[in-house]
Amino acid sequence: MPSAENTLTNEHKADFSTIYTNPDPRGYFRELAPLRYQVPQRALPVVRAVLAASGADTVLDVCCSYGINAALLRHRVDLDDVAERACDPARQRLPAEDVIRTDERFYALRRRDGGPSVLGLDCSAPAIDYALRTGLLDGGWAEDLERADPGSALAEGLRGVGLVVCTGGVGYIGRRTFERIVASVGEPERLWLATFVLRVFDFADVAAGLARHGLVTERVPGVSFRQRRFADADEAAAARLDVLARGLDPAGKEDDGWYHADCYLTRPATDAAAAPISDLLADALPA
Ligand SMILES: C[S@@+](CC[C@H](N)C(=O)[O-])C[C@H]1O[C@@H](n2cnc3c(N)ncnc32)[C@H](O)[C@@H]1O
Repeated sequence: MPSAENTLTNEHKADFSTIYTNPDPRGYFRELAPLRYQVPQRALPVVRAVLAASGADTVLDVCCSYGINAALLRHRVDLDDVAERACDPARQRLPAEDVIRTDERFYALRRRDGGPSVLGLDCSAPAIDYALRTGLLDGGWAEDLERADPGSALAEGLRGVGLVVCTGGVGYIGRRTFERIVASVGEPERLWLATFVLRVFDFADVAAGLARHGLVTERVPGVSFRQRRFADADEAAAARLDVLARGLDPAGKEDDGWYHADCYLTRPATDAAAAPISDLLADALPA
């Protein structure tokens, strides 16, 4: 399951791979809601601020699963609404086809005007299918760029991407996926990325690859983003060791029972020189 570059805690992380390949997100939220999965909601203010600063009109959500970031970004819903709907006891016996049809209507009624075009990449075909059929994504591809170059349709879709976002993906994906995306984007020298990376993982290798395209990566300082609670004591112990091995202090974060993610902002060197992160995210971060 883990990519070759990041082989720390994924060895010990609970294996949720079956919940990514159902035809709809009910199983995903039944597993993750009790662990208070929340990184897409925590990331949202940063994603909005970065989207505005980048000027991008097409966003690629990498490891998008069922299109959750697109749901939050472009609809009048929050993650609690989405999770509550997916876990609603009255909906558990519905056939997946009915869930997809009614979710399509649910999101259509809550769609915000305007907003970017959102594309999604995930290795799970059923998750991409759900996100496309419910209208959450404008384009989506089920491919694994750790293993192979993008197919022609994905390569074509990537051409207009101006912002890449990723929550909960690094560890499954690493340098190869990011390299292949940047290689397909029409203007790689103008690309922005907002990547939320569990603190157990190192992003330096990916950042070094992006630097070869003139893109500067900085960690958003002074803040981390809760991802979810640990599933069990083994996960907690392994994560604690991993952050310590990286020279980080788990006090108040992993020690309190939570996976925390850092946010890495990658952007053209000229943009990084022109606007410090603290200005760019002044209204997006907790005081
Ligand atoms: C923890 S989920 C994150 C989903 C979503 N971004 C979120 O924050 O809720 C990880 C996702 O990565 C996908 N994934 C795993 N390996 C992948 C790969 N090699 N390429 C693309 N997606 C992958 C899984 O199918 C799953 O949907």
